[in-house]
Amino acid sequence: MCGIVGYVGSRIAGPLLLEGLKRLEYRGYDSAGVAIMNGKGVETRKAAGKISMLETIMVGNPVAGTLGIAHTRWATHGAPTTTNAHPHVDCKGNIAVVHNGIIENSTALRHWLEDNGHTFVSETDTEVLAHLIEASFDGNLEEAVIEALHMVHGTYGIAVVSSLDPQKIVAARMGSPLIIGLGENEFYVASDVSAIVEHTRQVVYLDDGDLAVLDRTGYRVIDLEAQEMTRTVSQVDWDLGQIERGGFPHFMLKEIFEQPATVENTMRGRLLPADSTAKLSGLNLSDDELLSFDNIIITACGTSWHSALIGEHMLEEMTRIPVEVEYASEFRYRNPIVTPRTLCIVISQSGETADTLAAMREAKRRGARTVGLVNVVGSTIARESDGGVYLHAGPEIGVASTKAFTSQVVALALLTLRMGRLRAVSAVRGAEIIQALMALPAQVQEILDQAEQIEHLAEQYKDNSNFLYLGRGFNFPAALEGALKLKEISYIHAEGYPAAEMKHGPIALIDSAMPVVFIAPHDSVFEKVVSNVQEVKARGGRVIAITSRDEPQLAGLVAHEIRIPQTIDMLTPVLAAVPLQLLAYYIAVKRGCNVDQPRNLAKSVTVE
Ligand code: G6P
Repeated sequence: MCGIVGYVGSRIAGPLLLEGLKRLEYRGYDSAGVAIMNGKGVETRKAAGKISMLETIMVGNPVAGTLGIAHTRWATHGAPTTTNAHPHVDCKGNIAVVHNGIIENSTALRHWLEDNGHTFVSETDTEVLAHLIEASFDGNLEEAVIEALHMVHGTYGIAVVSSLDPQKIVAARMGSPLIIGLGENEFYVASDVSAIVEHTRQVVYLDDGDLAVLDRTGYRVIDLEAQEMTRTVSQVDWDLGQIERGGFPHFMLKEIFEQPATVENTMRGRLLPADSTAKLSGLNLSDDELLSFDNIIITACGTSWHSALIGEHMLEEMTRIPVEVEYASEFRYRNPIVTPRTLCIVISQSGETADTLAAMREAKRRGARTVGLVNVVGSTIARESDGGVYLHAGPEIGVASTKAFTSQVVALALLTLRMGRLRAVSAVRGAEIIQALMALPAQVQEILDQAEQIEHLAEQYKDNSNFLYLGRGFNFPAALEGALKLKEISYIHAEGYPAAEMKHGPIALIDSAMPVVFIAPHDSVFEKVVSNVQEVKARGGRVIAITSRDEPQLAGLVAHEIRIPQTIDMLTPVLAAVPLQLLAYYIAVKRGCNVDQPRNLAKSVTVE
């Protein structure tokens, strides 16, 4: 959510910053801007709308200079106008700031600054920072930034430049991710690796409370008391190809089609067929510890919350430990029952979702052991959890999560297998699970091979304005996920429900204009689902069924059928997710929607 990139070196900064912003556009895309040191002072360019608007302005009116900062915005305080776009400057235009996060005491600070003669031009909380730094400035930028940051409450990832101390970029982090990229006599600051991976794979992940000072000759990290800090340099293990569309019209489609490989990558080296179990070395939990938990809490947001629901079902069935799934945003503000014998599983693609991170910290504070199921290596949740399982799905750029979801379910299956084998799962059952896991990549490919047929189906349904998604057991969360995918990217109203629960409300909506997508593979609740299909059919609803074999009982009840391969019950959501993703994708494209950057959404929600 919001993206920052900054550069200092010997190359012209403008094009590098624009390129970086384009790579970050998935994080926020309502306005953008740059501030570049032009040799005399700070020069800014800003535009409302996509990065391409800013690019047009910069092509027409370029800024020379080899040091600059840039920002792509997802509005929180103030509408997405050019004035509210970052960078924000102080009264004299000597100091420019880009900021991710929220300054919670900005109203009070603004009044105080106005009373002291400062003039504000935007409605943003960020502008307060520029004026605070101006008020604190006494010849050294990092000292002024430190003084200003001591006055603010809230979250920030910032980058600051000033014509009064013109050779450096000062960056600081509290709750909003920030990294330093190390090049040859050039240095970068960015809110995530994708902005700079084209130029360097050597990065330093800043921690909360860190402040970095970058110039052409190097960088140093200090804390908010100006004490020197040592931070290790990490190597990014993916490359530019993984964040490019590679011939696909959208990142989302590319990511859907990557799933045979990503599902495999999540399992790679982790299955132990000889012992019918899984090896998860990052967990940092011994067998004794794994046996010691009394309860499990899984917390997450959005799509990750849907995989959490699937995990609950798997873990309870196979470990017999009570599991609770909590929206991270709810968990953090109630008084949950957590003990040192609680295992808290935290699921997040980005590893940066503010509510999920806060929930994890709360669980830790109360003594739980935390395990992160995270995709982004080096992200805050990955670093702060006691142990974890990386998804290894590679960068996910499409705002609507696809490959991360299927990898999350696979990672949960691995964890369930590991814990289950210590408790209630026999070697024979464990071997069945392993076999089913190993079959998944080819099975996902079989579904992808039907993409054309699903696209054809999308053509018939693209003009509907409501959809219902129904499933039971493991596929109730799959129904929620199918509905979420459709509403996120096509703006069609869609609801997911447990199939039988439909009778208690949504059934009132059913008529011939209401398509109902049933996730009905041949699992242990199939017969029950058939009765629900009949209920819909009896009211004139049009049924699209996701099935896994010829089912005579569905004959005459179903308008369209999408076939997925047969697997064990707990893995059906992995296979069901794929046609649901494709259906949502094709409907959205046919409605003319921007699937990679749906309106109002953001990929990594780093504010509450
Ligand atoms: C946002 C994204 C969703 C994602 C959710 C949780 O809402 O648009 O696609 O599922 O955040 O993100 P996380 O990175 O924590 O999985």
